[in-house]
Amino acid sequence: MVAFVSAAAATVGAASPFVAGFRPATAARRPLWVPRPASPIGRRSTILSPFASAGTPVATTADAVSPATAKTHTITLLPGDGIGNEIMDATVKVLEAVASRFDLNLAMTSALMGGAAIDATGEPLPAATLDQCRASDAVLLACIGGYKWDDLPRATRPETGLLALRKQLGLFANLRPAKSFAQLEGASSLKDEVVNGVDLMVVRELTGGVYFGTPKGIDTDPSTGARVGYSNMVYHDYEVQRIARVAMDIAMKRGKAVVSVDKANVLEVSQLWREEVIKVAADYPEVDLSHMYVDNAAMQLVRWPKQFDVLVTGNLFGDVLSDCASMLVGSLGMLPSASLGDGSGPGVFEPVHGSAPDIAGQDKANPVACVLSAAMMLRYALAETDAADAVEAAVEAVLNAGWRTGDIMSDGKTLVGCKRMGELLVEAVSAGGK
Ligand code: IPM
Ligand code: MG
Repeated sequence: MVAFVSAAAATVGAASPFVAGFRPATAARRPLWVPRPASPIGRRSTILSPFASAGTPVATTADAVSPATAKTHTITLLPGDGIGNEIMDATVKVLEAVASRFDLNLAMTSALMGGAAIDATGEPLPAATLDQCRASDAVLLACIGGYKWDDLPRATRPETGLLALRKQLGLFANLRPAKSFAQLEGASSLKDEVVNGVDLMVVRELTGGVYFGTPKGIDTDPSTGARVGYSNMVYHDYEVQRIARVAMDIAMKRGKAVVSVDKANVLEVSQLWREEVIKVAADYPEVDLSHMYVDNAAMQLVRWPKQFDVLVTGNLFGDVLSDCASMLVGSLGMLPSASLGDGSGPGVFEPVHGSAPDIAGQDKANPVACVLSAAMMLRYALAETDAADAVEAAVEAVLNAGWRTGDIMSDGKTLVGCKRMGELLVEAVSAGGK
């Protein structure tokens, strides 16, 4: 049984970024994030190992896929830093298992990104990595950053590389679903009655707002000699309109309710945000649009999260609220995300969590968020709905069987490390249970 994605959702197909809570569509509007056309490169008869040297694909499991039937999807893997290699390793094995089961041909090639790229090249997003991403059908990113690079100048920090990747690929829409798992009852710090049945989608604007606005800097105030730091929250009308459309389109496939989160009682930029969202909503008479100030939204998310279907908000507010939403599920280690643009280039699929340097290399990380991000990639970028369903079903099956990593551990369950969790997911995918 597929519980993570409802049966109805599974029928929507690849053009639908609606992980959960699907209700049949009534609008004919074409979503912004239609999948890219099939890769123009020729078929390959092998699954390519991602862990050769960066940019160098190496055939490993040539027999697993029949060249006559396999479709080729090129995927750039960015394992990044911290727990990145562990969770990516587990995820790649799951992808290989699903490729074998569904006769997919996945050409996966790793590239340097974040701190690992800084160490190797001096830059967090080397041009070669960006070029490789652009030439791919999809990008799977684990996580970046760590103590080692925290004191570097902003331009060469790992996070700057991630922001550049999002900006360069035009990934303005970040979809962060938070759907509670019945198996994880007790894992959240919130009461079960509050979180059971939560099924919401945070739609975060990803290439604008205070993350990118100018002027910004750290200077000296000439009149006082005091140091002054400033960032600038800027939104153009078209930036608000396009993310509002994404949110409305998603809502049409779900509960038809959008809450737009802003700070319009204080910020001019939020006033414009609200006005533009209202304009877009006029095209969606079936969608129930309401507005919430961000402080109230944070409170409502922990007070009664089941009131939400789709939340749409700016870059900074979305960053904060999506971490908050992860606690509704029980752990940041369970939350996937998809960063999508207008469909003219690849999307980036990445867990919501960071690189957890405190547990890196200890086999303690939860690979599920990365595995579920790979499922989103299969569904939205590669149009492999059955494979996506199978990966999500495998997560359900492994949780049903009582296996837990430390972050979601509870009484009576069995604690496993990252590697073992990955193997269990591979077994579940290969077994084909639903
Ligand atoms: C996220 C992260 C990033 C962000 C950091 C690592 C730059 O927190 O994806 O939520 O702030 O967007
Ligand atoms: Mg964040």
